[in-house]
Amino acid sequence: MSSNGPASTFELPPQVVRDLPAMPAVAGRIFRMVDNPDTDATDIAQAISMDPTLTAKVLKSANSSYYSPTTPITNLSQAVARMGLRALRNVVVIECLPLKGKSGEAANPLASGLWEHAVATAIGARIVAGRVVGCSPDDAFVAGLLHDIGKSALLLFKQTEYPEVIRQVQEGGGSFAEIEKARWGFDHADVGAAVLRLWQLPDVFVEGVRFHHRLAEIRNPSLWAQVEIAGRNAKAALLGIEKRRGLRVADGEGARLVKWTDEFSAALKVSFDAAWASEKSLFQV
Ligand SMILES: [Fe+2]
Ligand SMILES: [Fe+2]
Repeated sequence: MSSNGPASTFELPPQVVRDLPAMPAVAGRIFRMVDNPDTDATDIAQAISMDPTLTAKVLKSANSSYYSPTTPITNLSQAVARMGLRALRNVVVIECLPLKGKSGEAANPLASGLWEHAVATAIGARIVAGRVVGCSPDDAFVAGLLHDIGKSALLLFKQTEYPEVIRQVQEGGGSFAEIEKARWGFDHADVGAAVLRLWQLPDVFVEGVRFHHRLAEIRNPSLWAQVEIAGRNAKAALLGIEKRRGLRVADGEGARLVKWTDEFSAALKVSFDAAWASEKSLFQV
């Protein structure tokens, strides 16, 4: 079960496939529609309308303070027009995504820590994308949200061992990928890619998640470079499962790829802190 290069592909064990929560089919369908140039707003509205719970959630989100419509949005066509296809896809992903670790009394603190890292990386990546030419902030957001989904899956199916891995990382014993590979021969990137494939998300996200720690192996590394920068920013902001006081955001592989500087990092910190304060409650962090 190793993955040494693009040719080999990690397969989830059958028991994990059976136990893993499913992503509702509507989410995968909407993902594919957004990347299809023939899709129009009506198609998306119709796909969402098949699911009344999701429809209610999309409308609630379209009316939230983040989109702050001047008049209330009461139907899906208005929501699509107001938010745009990609932002709407992101709301659907947030609502449908299994393995979210919500905060609150019954929460597993490790799962909540992973979710906080995912949301902080997503918000940061959206801000970073605003500074990199030719990138969609909404694509960066969803890539940030999904990049470490393999860790959440591992926490679910290696319930006794994964907390130990997290503890080793937190004590400075190595990176997640290094410790996971040494234990099992695969890492959370392999697992995450397999999970996204199972959920039938587009190949570009499957590939990106699989190589998010090996950017040189991705065909379009820019999007995932932004995720890496945002992930470092989240750790430096002492958010999520892996806090790294004093971590230099511009030190990573992603920063080198998109020519990220300390000056950009300082600006990112200011924008991120404001966005985090106003948006984190939307994600139940
Ligand atoms: Fe990762
Ligand atoms: Fe990460």
